[in-house]
Amino acid sequence: MSKVTTVKLKEMKTRGEKITVLTCYDYSKAILLEKAGIDVLLVGDSLGMVLLGYDSTIPVTMEDMIIHTKAVSRGTKNALLVADMPFMSYQISTGESVKNAGRFLQEAGANAVKLEGGREIAPTVQAIIAAGIPVMGHLGLTPQSVNKLGGYRVQGKDEAAARIILNNALALQDAGVFAIVLECVPAALAKMVTKRLEVPTIGIGAGVDCDGQVLVIHDLLGLYSDISPKFVKRYASLHNTILEAVSQYKSDVKEGNFPGPEHSFDMEESEIGKLY
Ligand code: KIV
Repeated sequence: MSKVTTVKLKEMKTRGEKITVLTCYDYSKAILLEKAGIDVLLVGDSLGMVLLGYDSTIPVTMEDMIIHTKAVSRGTKNALLVADMPFMSYQISTGESVKNAGRFLQEAGANAVKLEGGREIAPTVQAIIAAGIPVMGHLGLTPQSVNKLGGYRVQGKDEAAARIILNNALALQDAGVFAIVLECVPAALAKMVTKRLEVPTIGIGAGVDCDGQVLVIHDLLGLYSDISPKFVKRYASLHNTILEAVSQYKSDVKEGNFPGPEHSFDMEESEIGKLY
């Protein structure tokens, strides 16, 4: 497999080949996702919830994102590596936004950044792209705006709301994004937006007709049990597997069954004898 690029993603849309995207926050998972041939690794700011224990993505900082993007980039070879720009890293001024986006490529080894928002961020998106940094858009349920949206709920359910999402998608495409995440929108709207756009759509809770799909890896693996949205499919139950393993470790240690001789190091009895 050769390096996945933003150009290749567009070619995949044209060919009708689905794009696979997963969130990834550390080196060892990056190696696994690479082995599986996942096309795009997203260092999502969802790490604030599944790794850092916040109740939203809002507290996540640039430094959090840079550390995790660096770790993922050390394990990434062929996948396209996209990093989320965290809340308030691209809202204050265009200059600051470009500078922050640049850190993901220059310091952390990402190939692209993702920003949440529609036409209101189009000038920022244009400025970041003008600096040579590919941008992925994110519409629908945009978790950094959870306070404005009034909760984590499906977006674009009536004609007016759906039209805003479609117009925002067209505005982001005009601004130059290479792909757009559609989160928690009705499947029929995602299908329609996908047809209207030349750039690929990546769905999460957006039905089967998007050009690609993304899931939070902790949800897919059954590692995070706090919330389980309707759109998640669990492919494993690592929560239970890990709980069983650490409970077994606990009882082995308590009962003196671990470590065994096979986990211990020998020395000559005559040598230890000299210490008694
Ligand atoms: O932060 C994240 O993980 C995301 C995906 C859910 C698209 O933005």
